[in-house]
Amino acid sequence: MAQIIGAVTTSHVPAIGGAMAKGLQAEPYWKPFFDGFPPVRRWLAEVKPDVAVVIYNDHGLNFFLDKMPTFAVGAAPEYRNADEGWGIPQVAPFRGDQDLSWHLIESLIGEDFDITTCQEMMVDHAFTLPMALLWPDQRWPVRVVPVCINTVQFPLPSARRCYRLGEAVGRAVRSWQSDARVLIMGTGGLSHQLDGQRAGFINKSFDEQFMNSLASDPEWATQYSIHDLVRLTGTQGVELVMWLAARAALGARASTRHSSYHIPISNTASGLMLLEPA
Ligand code: DHB
Ligand code: FE
Repeated sequence: MAQIIGAVTTSHVPAIGGAMAKGLQAEPYWKPFFDGFPPVRRWLAEVKPDVAVVIYNDHGLNFFLDKMPTFAVGAAPEYRNADEGWGIPQVAPFRGDQDLSWHLIESLIGEDFDITTCQEMMVDHAFTLPMALLWPDQRWPVRVVPVCINTVQFPLPSARRCYRLGEAVGRAVRSWQSDARVLIMGTGGLSHQLDGQRAGFINKSFDEQFMNSLASDPEWATQYSIHDLVRLTGTQGVELVMWLAARAALGARASTRHSSYHIPISNTASGLMLLEPA
């Protein structure tokens, strides 16, 4: 059976792509953010995952407001990035793992999750930038399975539902007949609001409580409704449900191997965690 080796959760702010393209990683503005990643890269070089299940939210590249699935899973042989208008370079295509995709889709639908199956799927900055942060040479050493959660158009799935989805993703991966080593990624957050009267809103104490909860009390954030989470973390801060789902995939117990947190990158409180199953 396949093995889940850990979960990496990270912010996915588009400006990261610009900073990487311009080589600004050592600039004072960017250094505290990029300095979080070398320990995760060293861990990846050690554990050598074969596949990454990437839980993220599309922001209008693959799904637009006319058709917005709550949960979608990629089942394509390959995933391409395209210009979203942020002015960041496009990255090389990602090789899919269709065997895991279909196993995941069958397991999730078998557990009563209503999944949109995507045999063609473009992946946006929320997928490509975390991949480039983990593998800066952009020669992707893993096959990928995108798992997309709507955090763009209301109504959004609850934190509790996203946690349950993550648990089901974990069960599916662990029951996959393969000797693959699987990394789970969750991208988004932490607190940020890009528009409206509270644009620039950040809540450091909530973010820190949330990050601490993932090891010790992982369902802590599921006590909050989506509207609570918008109030507490900003309209885009709700992307933290991706972290919850990724954490849930590890099973009941997990420990924090590495974490970093920095304010701000663009409008976002950026966070990074590496969690390992107990
Ligand atoms: C920013 C953050 C995001 O999560 C995103 O998807 C786009 C922009 C930002 O802070 O600039
Ligand atoms: Fe985002």
